[in-house]
Amino acid sequence: MEKLKLIHKYAEKFVSNADIEAMSGRAVEAMRTLHNKSGAGNDFLGWVTLPTDYDKEEFARIKKAAEYIKANCDILIVIGIGGSYLGARAVIEALKSPNYNALAKDTPQIFFIGNTISPSMVTELVSLCEDKDICINVISKSGTTTEPAIAFRIFRDIIYKKYSAEEAAKRIFCTTDKARGTLKELADEVGYETFVVPDDVGGRYSVLTAVGLLPIAAAGIDIDALMAGAQTAQNALCSEDINANDCLKYAAIRNCFYEAGKKLECFISYEPCMTMFNEWLKQLFAESEGKDGKGLYPVSCIFSTDLHSVGQYIQESGGPLMFETCLKFNKPLDDLVITEQEGNIDGLNFLAGKTMSLINEKARQGTLLAHTEGGVANLVLEIDAIDAESIGYMIYFFEKVCAVSGYILGVNPFNQPGVESYKKNMFALLGKPGYESEKEKLEKELGI
Ligand code: PA5
Repeated sequence: MEKLKLIHKYAEKFVSNADIEAMSGRAVEAMRTLHNKSGAGNDFLGWVTLPTDYDKEEFARIKKAAEYIKANCDILIVIGIGGSYLGARAVIEALKSPNYNALAKDTPQIFFIGNTISPSMVTELVSLCEDKDICINVISKSGTTTEPAIAFRIFRDIIYKKYSAEEAAKRIFCTTDKARGTLKELADEVGYETFVVPDDVGGRYSVLTAVGLLPIAAAGIDIDALMAGAQTAQNALCSEDINANDCLKYAAIRNCFYEAGKKLECFISYEPCMTMFNEWLKQLFAESEGKDGKGLYPVSCIFSTDLHSVGQYIQESGGPLMFETCLKFNKPLDDLVITEQEGNIDGLNFLAGKTMSLINEKARQGTLLAHTEGGVANLVLEIDAIDAESIGYMIYFFEKVCAVSGYILGVNPFNQPGVESYKKNMFALLGKPGYESEKEKLEKELGI
């Protein structure tokens, strides 16, 4: 059963059925490469069967740890960067709200840190933790990434000042490699509870492991339903018939656009709760496809908000550059009806009795037609509702689309060699032992 439907009829004048048919052989080949584990990066394919083949004992421990966190803290601090934070934040904001922390609830506030080196963000969170009970979930597959390591040092100090060493140790949960890395060594030495980032699952494909599941469960989200949605996707998206498998078709169409000269894919939603999901998508596609001088650059918009900022550019100049992929939800999380007002001073009585969701949908339809008319191709991904099962389905759907697309493109969708360059320079400039000669060279280049 498919929970998500690809509608490409509004893009037909830009990519024809014949174009898609011509790409379909490469898409099927790419999916076979994925299933046969015969392509580049094939030691990072654990996510393909993860929804059915996950560690059940650990899954139960995640739920138990989430219960402990819910019962014992006001604030959960989630420390991680990139794939070690975006998925959890995306799911929590989609299913709870971007205003989750401000809502009345029986689950802790959740703050994400370690995804920036901004001193003001860290200082602000330190002050928010004053007089509050806190727990920490530090997440790093490598266990050595600088941003989360700095944040962990700071918040570990805080937790040890607030509580006895024994109590502090119970409040720190580490999600990392099963055997290697500084974080694992520290956790074993002090006795923090640990969860595993499987060897064969890369950061941006890890949201359905403990990386995402512990913070998501601590927010009170049903992780069984999330996994059930992903299982449905795992079973539904295997057909080699491009007309029976939207994952295959979407991957083919994306590559048709790319080969026709498009440079950007813009992910669109009319629900602000999907802002962080868009960020997760951007990481997934950018780190997986953007290499060897290739790849669509992923960008995102929330409409109608961004129609009042970048909408002008998209309408009149976007066509040659980009295409849009809109996530359309049939049922909103909530709704309200516009009331009739005496005097009709604001002229809005023509909307009286209509729901906000209907008005939002008319904005979507109007924009779709205007942008298509303006030369911007549009794909629609229709999803019934914003619920845990649908989000689980979408996570798996996009992961598989990304992997298949990457193989069609001819890149390794599971490495990220380019991420290392800035780190090397930063370490050299900070004077990390071993980087002495680089430091001198870089300082000369900077003129400092
Ligand atoms: O997708 C990826 O692999 C990266 O974005 C990583 O998740 C990110 O760099 C964080 O790495 P780590 O979990 O090792 O701290």
